[in-house]
Amino acid sequence: RVYKIATIPGDGIGVDITEAAIQVLDKLAAVDGTFTFQWNEFDWSSKNFKERGWYMPPDGMEQLKKFNAIYFGAVGWPDVADHISLWGLILPIRNSMNQYVNVRPTRILRGITSPLSQCAKQPRDLDWVIVRENSEGEYAGQGGTTHGHTPHAVATEVSIFTRVGIERIMRFAFDTAKLRPRKKLTMVTKSNAQRHGMVLWDTIFHDVAKEYPDITWDKMLVDAMTVRMVNQPQTLDTIVATNLHADILSDLAAALSGSIGIAPSSNLDPTRGCPSMFEPIHGSAPDIAGKGIANPVGAFWSAAEMVRWLGNGELDHVADGLMEAIEKVTEAGVKTRDLAGSSNTKEVTEAVCKEIEVV
Ligand code: NAI
Ligand code: MG
Repeated sequence: RVYKIATIPGDGIGVDITEAAIQVLDKLAAVDGTFTFQWNEFDWSSKNFKERGWYMPPDGMEQLKKFNAIYFGAVGWPDVADHISLWGLILPIRNSMNQYVNVRPTRILRGITSPLSQCAKQPRDLDWVIVRENSEGEYAGQGGTTHGHTPHAVATEVSIFTRVGIERIMRFAFDTAKLRPRKKLTMVTKSNAQRHGMVLWDTIFHDVAKEYPDITWDKMLVDAMTVRMVNQPQTLDTIVATNLHADILSDLAAALSGSIGIAPSSNLDPTRGCPSMFEPIHGSAPDIAGKGIANPVGAFWSAAEMVRWLGNGELDHVADGLMEAIEKVTEAGVKTRDLAGSSNTKEVTEAVCKEIEVV
């Protein structure tokens, strides 16, 4: 079968790693032989925003709905304010496409040294899935500014939490924990200081937990959670947190697993009514853009998750094969500079393609 994929390379290294991901996915399809990809690229980026005045055309969402999935690079460039670029492209897509879950797996791939090897006793036991609420909370976009450029400036940034929004993310998190060997869920809030929305998270978490008697759970405040992630990584498995908290924790998780350049993410519409979107968690990295040295591993891992999602249970072996190919390559020491290696994007990509042929 043919999977129709919308690609949005975006800005900076988003362009390099999207190209690399397409190369790897085409190789995967060619070796497997039961499916192919039909790529359709959208040139929605900060550069084009500067020229055209828009990130997406008015019918952009309608166009995206025709695809089986969306593959996203990164958006953001120093000459456009970051809140304009994020709200111009990626946040509206997540919202309009009902992608209310953002799944961020983290583990230490073979051949990669975790900074945890210096503090935690068993760094290899870092094997987590962070489930990020992706549709509301702190990124609801609500609030405003008055007296902006005066000494009396006041701005509000209002978080919105709804029962519907919290229940569905909790169920997804419990379902995720249920499919994993340790069957363990940690729920993160800041319900000591944030006394409305976060308390609703606590309440609904307890309600939903009753439906999952076979899952062991615990709760953490987000500040203490950062310490536990560093000192006791082996005590965590599935983690559920709000849009903001999980955004921050997943960057920490990525760093603990070796580099931000390897971390994947899936923006899912679990109802499958709209296409889901797959992207590495890193941004456009202007400091290394155009040099050909971006780590494509996060992009490949995201690609593996896309294959898993598209197959809906039938292509897990293909996704696993891609992960195995990636780990063969990191194990062999073919790594980019962020992982203390000396290879460039192209060399890592070619090495992964080669492994796909033999895995
Ligand atoms: P960033 O993730 O782009 O870069 C942070 C640091 O990590 C930089 O030193 C960069 O060189 C390094 N890095 C990131 N990805 C790498 C990779 N694949 N290989 C090697 N090194 C890598 O985050 P930053 O600098 O905060 O943001 C840059 C721009 O990207 C901003 O405009 C920001 O708004 C945007 N951004 C976009 C995201 C998205 O599209 N989903 C996510 C995060 C940031
Ligand atoms: Mg982030």
